Amino acid sequence: MHYEAFDAAVARVRERNLRLAERGTPPSVYILTFGCQQNEADSERLLGMAHAMGYHDAADPKDASLILFNTCAIREHAEKRTLSIIGSFKKQKEENPSLLLGVCGCMSAEEHRTDELRRRYPYVDFTLTPATIGLLPEAIDARQSGGRRRFYPDAPDTVLEELPVARTGAHRASVSIMYGCNNFCTYCIVPYVRGRERSRPSADVIKEVRALVASGVKDITLLGQNVNSYRSDMDFPTLLKALDEIEGDYLLRFMTSHPKDASDALVEVLRKAKHIEPHFHLPLQSGSDAVLSRMNRRYGMARYESIVAALREANPDIAITSDVIVGFPGETDEDYEATLAALHRIRFDSVYAFIYSPRRGTPAAEMAEQVPPAVQSARMTRLLDEQAEISREKNKPLVGKTLRVLVDGPSKSDAAVYSGRTDAGKLVHFDAAPDAVGNFVFIEIERAEAFALYGKIKK
Ligand code: 5AD
Ligand code: SF4
Repeated sequence: MHYEAFDAAVARVRERNLRLAERGTPPSVYILTFGCQQNEADSERLLGMAHAMGYHDAADPKDASLILFNTCAIREHAEKRTLSIIGSFKKQKEENPSLLLGVCGCMSAEEHRTDELRRRYPYVDFTLTPATIGLLPEAIDARQSGGRRRFYPDAPDTVLEELPVARTGAHRASVSIMYGCNNFCTYCIVPYVRGRERSRPSADVIKEVRALVASGVKDITLLGQNVNSYRSDMDFPTLLKALDEIEGDYLLRFMTSHPKDASDALVEVLRKAKHIEPHFHLPLQSGSDAVLSRMNRRYGMARYESIVAALREANPDIAITSDVIVGFPGETDEDYEATLAALHRIRFDSVYAFIYSPRRGTPAAEMAEQVPPAVQSARMTRLLDEQAEISREKNKPLVGKTLRVLVDGPSKSDAAVYSGRTDAGKLVHFDAAPDAVGNFVFIEIERAEAFALYGKIKK
């Protein structure tokens, strides 16, 4: 571990930044986060480190002296968009050469992207991978003191635990319980960019969750690429049970689960839970055994549907959501129809559907029979339509019911309408309730659409 180097770099950057502040130019940071909740959690660590180094929050990237891009590599589209956003800061750097630009996250863990950033983005000062975000102070220190640009500082022993965290939400928080993935689904870049599975010690996780509950956080999500394979001195069901026993008024969520590891023990913990959400996100990916096998998912439809049955037997009201990929290499019309049929049989509450995107270095990118884009789009459109109808039908019986909802605040599109989430994670819109932000309220559901519920606060 390099804690001495970390602390020394933080101190040096802080010293310089304090001098700048004394001269009337206090340095500030802006972080652009792309992708999943794991990245959002990493951004809270990046921000925590930046604060420790004396950076304030910039309200706008235009005013920042340090801009960090926390990138996503899961699909090609995400990368292209991010690269063009990074490119849009070229001018700002030319006008202000002391501005520091750092690219972090999954995209910068791909060697060909790092090469591209090095050659074609000379205004990028450094890159860090998800495993090496703890090198942020050293990268900034090196640049501030006139050192060369730094790329891919991927030393294997630089994973720093206990980095400072700047929590951005007051009533919702996430806690990483494990990092990385060992599954190597053939389409997925994650095992290459986030490395092998590492689980945090259970005592650290329990301590962190306990502190969050004590500080009034109401909604805590345990994060990991595959939480079911969490293993330290205990396995995931045991950890979940230990966390559920913490006294308080809060909800525990967890994601993501892999069907191959969803155990009977986990179902039993859910059956008896006091604080665990009545929701399970269980990525299906495809309804065809042949495709699942080529995806290296290591389960078939029979096993998948037996898990769904066990979850519903334990809690008939549980919401089950999923991820599906359409247009995987070699997906025939029959395979695709099998996926649609699975959606109609299982009746998920909602589904995140993705068009397959080839990722360089993954086995599926090399497979013959890539599905033409026009076929992929047509399959996607139909799947989304059919699933929207299922989601709407699943939500309909909630009309007339009163559900507990954690209030988030004004909705994005209309400040007079508030939004929040039910215990099962469903989005609800209701009449304005400024005093209730961050608290649980009870909402009587009056209308149900595919992607949201509408209601009024029960007085
Ligand atoms: N193309 C399309 N979707 C993908 N996912 C992961 N990799 C790819 C890819 N190459 C989807 C999976 C996963 C979700 C987070 O993203 O459905 O569960
Ligand atoms: Fe990717 Fe599969 Fe790991 Fe999920 S379980 S991160 S889809 S390799």
